[in-house]
Amino acid sequence: MAQDPTPPLTPERAAALEAIPFEAAPSPAYVVHMGRLEDNCRLLQAISEQSGARILLALKGFACHSTFPRIRPFLAGTTSSGLHEGLLAHEYFGKEVHVYSAAYKPHELVQLNRFAHSLVFNSYKQLNRGIEILGDNRKAELGLRVNPEYSEVETELYDPCSPSSRLGTTREALDKALRELGDAALHQLDGLHFHALCEQDSDALEHTAEAFETKFGDLIPGRKWLNFGGGHHITRPGYDIERLIRVVRHFREKYQVEVNLEPGEAVALHTGVLIVTVLDIVEAGGKQIAITDSSATCHMPDVLEMPYRPAILGADLPGVHPHTYRIGGMSCLAGDVVGDYSFPEPLKTGQRLVFLDMSHYTMVKNTTFNGVPLPAICQFDPAQGLQVIRKFAYSDYSMRLS
Ligand SMILES: Cc1ncc(COP(=O)(O)O)c(C=O)c1O
Repeated sequence: MAQDPTPPLTPERAAALEAIPFEAAPSPAYVVHMGRLEDNCRLLQAISEQSGARILLALKGFACHSTFPRIRPFLAGTTSSGLHEGLLAHEYFGKEVHVYSAAYKPHELVQLNRFAHSLVFNSYKQLNRGIEILGDNRKAELGLRVNPEYSEVETELYDPCSPSSRLGTTREALDKALRELGDAALHQLDGLHFHALCEQDSDALEHTAEAFETKFGDLIPGRKWLNFGGGHHITRPGYDIERLIRVVRHFREKYQVEVNLEPGEAVALHTGVLIVTVLDIVEAGGKQIAITDSSATCHMPDVLEMPYRPAILGADLPGVHPHTYRIGGMSCLAGDVVGDYSFPEPLKTGQRLVFLDMSHYTMVKNTTFNGVPLPAICQFDPAQGLQVIRKFAYSDYSMRLS
């Protein structure tokens, strides 16, 4: 299992998160630090101003809508993966609503068209069908997601650019579809979209954008916008912002187009924690294992999918401190293990543990497998203190099952 791949918090970021009153929160609970969230969005706004890029929050990564009034002023809008995220964007965020989906049902397109600024299609065939379905009622701009067939993403599960990926059309597939369906839809196309990054710096963007330009550059003139997707780790300390600005400006100036960026993780990076409680400590195979009221598979699924080992406040790699424990979850999944950690003092039942960097891809992905209760959602603001936004109950579990 990979060890702590996410960059360590800077001392300022760590100090901000440590100010959260962990003992006062329910357990388990996600707590979003509003000041940290605003700091990230302020940086994104500055980059938007310097580069001219429109920056959109990708709701798939972070959709905690109670926070939207605080971050809305800094961003141009949101990007959604389909009807439900689109509706949430329209209802709670406002501003520009952009949508890309691997496929749309006709009624979804009709509903999205009422408020979406752009609808991005996954293939030329779907673009044609979308134009037909929306007919003269079309209000949204139209985009096509392309596959530049270049990516530096190492984890296969997160690589949308392999030649046989279903996400986005390759140049070969597009040319074939153009021969079969004609080029009329191309004349109605407002923008091109690619998404090929995952937690990457702007050098990976630069290389991917070059591959995109080589493969699809002849299709850019005449478009209104390009969308460079997400995966830009912009708010990570040390990210090369100047290079990002250069890449965006290159396309804006050469082709006279708008450029959209749609980060999810970068909006919420290092902005929140997951507070859990140790319920029991068991021993097996010579290891001390702490079972918590949380779960990797239910509450932090990326830990198992990526996989990675999230940092715990005050803990370190096994063996660094005198007391090493495996931290496990409540579910029946044998692999429901977050990782091995060492602590300066022995763990006790009833003690709280604080997982760092738990705002993005957690609340949006969690499940109630085994009926494990969902963590509460809280906000912390140094001026307003801790606010419990939502607690979940048995009914949240049962209502989804019949
Ligand atoms: C099309 C698209 N846009 C944006 C994003 C957001 O990516 P990230 O949260 O890594 O910035 C994703 C993530 O999978 C995506 O698939």
